[in-house]
Amino acid sequence: MTMNHVNRMPRITRREFSALAAAPLLPQVALAQTSAAPPLTTRAIPGTGERLPVVGLGTASVFNSDDEPTRRAAAQVVQALVDAGGRLIDTASTYGDAESVLGKVIAGATLQGKIFVATKLEAPDAAELQRSLARLKMAKVDLLQLHNVRDARQSLAQFKAWKARGLCRYIGITSTYHGDFAALEAVLGREKPDFVQVDYSLDNRLAEERILPLAAEVRAGVLTALPFGRARLFRAVRGKAVPDWAQDFAGSWAQFFLKFLLADERVTAVIPGTSDPAHMMDNLGAMRGRLPDAAQRQRMIAFVNSL
Ligand SMILES: NC(=O)c1ccc[n+]([C@@H]2O[C@H](COP(=O)([O-])OP(=O)(O)OC[C@H]3O[C@@H](n4cnc5c(N)ncnc54)[C@H](OP(=O)(O)O)[C@@H]3O)[C@@H](O)[C@H]2O)c1
Repeated sequence: MTMNHVNRMPRITRREFSALAAAPLLPQVALAQTSAAPPLTTRAIPGTGERLPVVGLGTASVFNSDDEPTRRAAAQVVQALVDAGGRLIDTASTYGDAESVLGKVIAGATLQGKIFVATKLEAPDAAELQRSLARLKMAKVDLLQLHNVRDARQSLAQFKAWKARGLCRYIGITSTYHGDFAALEAVLGREKPDFVQVDYSLDNRLAEERILPLAAEVRAGVLTALPFGRARLFRAVRGKAVPDWAQDFAGSWAQFFLKFLLADERVTAVIPGTSDPAHMMDNLGAMRGRLPDAAQRQRMIAFVNSL
């Protein structure tokens, strides 16, 4: 269901949120919650041991406008995430109105405290932080990341001071620009943030060599941005079925792509972006069942290389 297919409503109350967000998803949610469902995969944040469900939600280009159809779609996607046992949502001060949309949806459904909110700032700027907190309707966020590190000298001192003041629980750094990976590595090694977020997908594995080993060394959690390469991987397999040898661990292409990443124990969570609740449910399926082994991962790489 896309956000254009639902009727407009004046505003989202908590009751309306529950009814609207849950109704189309009940069969899948019920299935996910039966005792027969395989256990949820969670992974420890290295610095604290706090466990995070391994599939989250990215919001880079999906909730750009703070209007009713977007809030409706966001409510459904967030409800799908929570109903399936997920917690992590990644956003940024620069993702259009995404922080405002999420703030309204999370407050409207009284989900504060149930969602692990990660946002990003462009700079260690107090006004930018206050704007993000106000838009998110939160006194603090779980993870505050410095967006797109590009200079080896960038300091996390202000982020650490905010963490000490309780304005965030964790701090992190991000980049998806390979030309900036040297700077990202320098800041990661020197500042030792709690998290690093980097692009990593089945057909884009530079992070395996450049970032993941250092993240493990400094005990930083890893969030993988662009796990589908902005849908590039779906386009590559269009018209093809998931191979027989992968069907016992991947019920869909989305799960095939996400489980490849999750099979690397250094990955704390994946954050695929979607505005479609059915896609969210599909992606959340990667939190359950077994992960591919090392030989199967090599086969997955060979398969994608052959496309
Ligand atoms: N520097 C940084 O810090 C940085 C940079 C880039 C991204 N990020 C983060 O990483 C997140 C993920 O990246 P992304 O959203 O740009 O790209 P992505 O997750 O690689 O791909 C998103 C695309 O995949 C589609 N999709 C999602 N689930 C699907 C499914 N089950 N079946 C079919 N299609 C599906 C989405 O369309 P639908 O909406 O139709 O589902 C969308 O077109 C971002 O949202 C952001 O939070 C961070």
